[in-house]
Amino acid sequence: MSALILPPFDAGFGVYVHWPFCQAKCPYCDFNSHVRRAGIDEARFVAAFRRELQHMREMAPGRTVSSIFFGGGTPSLMKPETVGGILEAIGENWAIAPDCEISLEANPTSVEAGRFRGYRAAGVNRVSLGVQALNDEHLKALGRLHNVAEALVAISTAASIFERYSFDLIYARPGQTVEAWREELVEALAHAPTHLSLYQLTIEEGTAFHALHAAGKLAIPDDDTARALFDTTQEICSKFGMPAYEVSNHAKPGHECRHNLLYWRYGEYAGIGPGAHGRLVTTRGRRAFATEKSPEAWLDYVERDGHGIVSDEALDHEAEGDEFLLMGLRLSEGIDPDRFRLLRGRDFEASRVEALVEENLIEFCPDHRRLRVTRAGFPVLDAIVADLAA
Ligand SMILES: C[S@@+](CC[C@H](N)C(=O)[O-])C[C@H]1O[C@@H](n2cnc3c(N)ncnc32)[C@H](O)[C@@H]1O
Ligand code: SF4
Repeated sequence: MSALILPPFDAGFGVYVHWPFCQAKCPYCDFNSHVRRAGIDEARFVAAFRRELQHMREMAPGRTVSSIFFGGGTPSLMKPETVGGILEAIGENWAIAPDCEISLEANPTSVEAGRFRGYRAAGVNRVSLGVQALNDEHLKALGRLHNVAEALVAISTAASIFERYSFDLIYARPGQTVEAWREELVEALAHAPTHLSLYQLTIEEGTAFHALHAAGKLAIPDDDTARALFDTTQEICSKFGMPAYEVSNHAKPGHECRHNLLYWRYGEYAGIGPGAHGRLVTTRGRRAFATEKSPEAWLDYVERDGHGIVSDEALDHEAEGDEFLLMGLRLSEGIDPDRFRLLRGRDFEASRVEALVEENLIEFCPDHRRLRVTRAGFPVLDAIVADLAA
């Protein structure tokens, strides 16, 4: 079955590059990010990225890269020449589409904003800033190293250098009311980006917030308030012409993040660097790859074996169908049931679809071809996916 959707297919081919270092660890964050006071040998990392890229290309040759994403960690701690070296190495392994989107996640401190011109010159054409809050007290509580004034300067610096930029905010923060969030969001929208990522705070296991929450020392908004915050987010963003195109992502039509769309449309991507994930359609079918998370161990593996892959799993039709639904149903454009049939090897069960439509949790788009989750369905997305996949 996979043969029917072998590349090239319309979701594109992406490259994700993970930079695993941060200046400090934020208390809510469970991303693969590490603080290293001793300094980082960036040239050694570039050489390792180069080797791992070659390995990925051997498994997935002949692709044209439609998007590249530098994520972290904090990629804006990299020197521009490090970013340039990695982009050059990507171009040595695959063709890069002329309109390739090249995004980089940046923290909005003044030091990092000072590197934006260098990133642009290296080829980056989109930045995504981790603003998190437009409230100094809350930024402190989130452990952030910037304040609101610095974030606003970073936003206008980004606007003057990049055609496309976005910023992230976290809502449902400790002590946040719906009214306060409404005001903050309207202010954020006034800075008029064409893309905003708005994440509801999640308490992740293993983080400092998790320990505080478990000890009863961190109160987050209850379920009803969190729901009201989500609804307010949808309402205000739609009013400002920035509807959600995915659960947490909003854009003016045509300004959606191409790399993220590739994930949610179940495209193909190579993930390089410590703790990166990838999905490649190889001669052995579609496979899920993950690399070693520890930056030092990853370097050792790559220098010894040419790659840092520690997990390489075949995805059978059932797994492909599940992943396709999990990703695609996050999108407001929904999914194409025909593609589900190709991946899964069978259709949805009509009675399950009917029942979910009846409950107003899913609906057919006006063209009657695509299936999507309704606003009422988003809070129970996982249950809908499990039901449809069963
Ligand atoms: C890889 S992180 C951030 C990149 C960059 N280091 C930064 O902090 O700005 C991507 C985004 O995930 C979001 N995020 C991380 N942990 C979160 C959590 N526990 N709950 C909600 N959003 C979270 C933040 O908005 C963050 O900007
Ligand atoms: S939120 Fe960003 S800066 Fe903070 S620890 Fe996570 S990756 Fe690093």
